[in-house]
Amino acid sequence: MAKSRTSAGPSILLLNGPNLNLLGTREPPLYGRDTLAAIEKRLAATAKASGVRLECLQTNHEGVAVDRVQQAKRDGVGFIVLNPAAFTYSSIALRDALTAVQIPFVEVHLSNIHAREPWRAHSHFTAVAVGSILGLRSRGYDLALDFAIARLKSKGSGGA
Ligand code: DQA
Repeated sequence: MAKSRTSAGPSILLLNGPNLNLLGTREPPLYGRDTLAAIEKRLAATAKASGVRLECLQTNHEGVAVDRVQQAKRDGVGFIVLNPAAFTYSSIALRDALTAVQIPFVEVHLSNIHAREPWRAHSHFTAVAVGSILGLRSRGYDLALDFAIARLKSKGSGGA
């Protein structure tokens, strides 16, 4: 008999790290003017239209992010869209959680981290991500979600 989480259909986790709760007012030339609430609403509508569940979490706390990734495994989450924000440079714990659960993820940054301070260019996540989207402001989330949906839908058929 199928587990209930399986019958609920595929799901995607949108995980945002520290200070991304401030989107909308946080350095708009770098990060744009969309609020996180608006981004999450837009992505939830896209996911719903595709028959996929989207779960969203923004946290300023590393341990909360690690716990959420571990929970994602137990919940049967099929894909993660991650903006690690400042954890990009500091969180071996979050990277280890992602490699431990083996849930594929796309790394998103609103700004182009290669066009900023040199220390922002090296991400702990890029080498273990399926791919990265940089510098497209909030559109990067939409592109990552589209990829995640296609990937979940083609799972087992050798697609995306
Ligand atoms: C960011 C880029 C990081 O360098 C920064 O620490 C952030 C946001 C981005 O989305 O462009 O908090 O991840």
